[in-house]
Amino acid sequence: MMQLVHRPRRLRKNAAIRGLVRETQLQPADLIYPMFVAEGEKLRDPISTMPGQFRFSVDELVKECQEVFSLGIGAVNLFGYSEDKDDQASKSYDPNGLVQRSIRALKDALPGLCVQTDVALDPYTHHGHDGLVVGDEIVNDESVEVLCKMALSHAEAGVDWVAPSDMMDGRVGAIRYTLDNAGFQNVGILAYSAKYASCFYGPFRGALDSAPKKGDKKTYQMDPANTREAMRELAMDVDEGADVIMIKPALSYLDIIAQARAAFDVPIAAYNVSGEFSMIHAAAEKGWLDLEKAMMEVLMSIKRAGADMILSYFAKDAAKLLKRDFGKMV
Ligand code: PBG
Repeated sequence: MMQLVHRPRRLRKNAAIRGLVRETQLQPADLIYPMFVAEGEKLRDPISTMPGQFRFSVDELVKECQEVFSLGIGAVNLFGYSEDKDDQASKSYDPNGLVQRSIRALKDALPGLCVQTDVALDPYTHHGHDGLVVGDEIVNDESVEVLCKMALSHAEAGVDWVAPSDMMDGRVGAIRYTLDNAGFQNVGILAYSAKYASCFYGPFRGALDSAPKKGDKKTYQMDPANTREAMRELAMDVDEGADVIMIKPALSYLDIIAQARAAFDVPIAAYNVSGEFSMIHAAAEKGWLDLEKAMMEVLMSIKRAGADMILSYFAKDAAKLLKRDFGKMV
């Protein structure tokens, strides 16, 4: 027999002991469900590249959110699917636009649900960029003006948090200023602070028909090679008044989440993006991975890395599973 002082396996002996020493807990309240809305009625249009995800008409969105909320998920993040595109993204700030109507319907039916909305121009422009395009340039300051109008129209509709995902410089401060001047001091900002130019957004762009028609997003989204730059972006958004800072995507950037956790004391969100969701589904369909186990391991890893809240298309299924397994020593 070996004479060992430490035998870490003692603390892994059975489920009860593992439960006692578990360092990270995942709960439905940590999750934010990203959802797509489209024009129409009684519509649940399946997104082929994202199994189990739909584009909902407003009436169906409300029904779905009732179920999601009853599972203990406290927040949804809305993306509008707009067929009405132009070069100025003018539908993005229409007071009667799709997202604005969705916010009103949701706050009416479920006042306790935290309704969050994406703020970026890509679903509303022909070219599919997050800002306005002049010549070959995605122009910054002019784009921020439109983003402020968009955020304000969401606030007027009753949104709880706006989530600027566009990566233009200075937009968090400008949106904060706009909202405060209009009396919306209590509307929060969930800032996509360290958002990388990632291929993992592919299935999402298919769902919204929002892929850039020309060029890529590398002049505004970050280079996947950079860490220090992420810390700078995060610090700037904190200074500009972000309530919550986000790292996106999550899985290839767990190191950034962990470093952000150590450096900032504001709440941190991470976005488990469409490609991260779809690749697990694809592998599970082939029988190469266990879908439920992969889903829970991924979400737990993002939480362990330091995220307080996780945007994930797995949110609803994970919440169901957490409810099913509640009290069991898994
Ligand atoms: C748009 C936006 C994107 C995502 C969230 N907001 C796509 C992009 O930046 O091209 C990606 C979400 C996902 O992949 O799940 N500004």
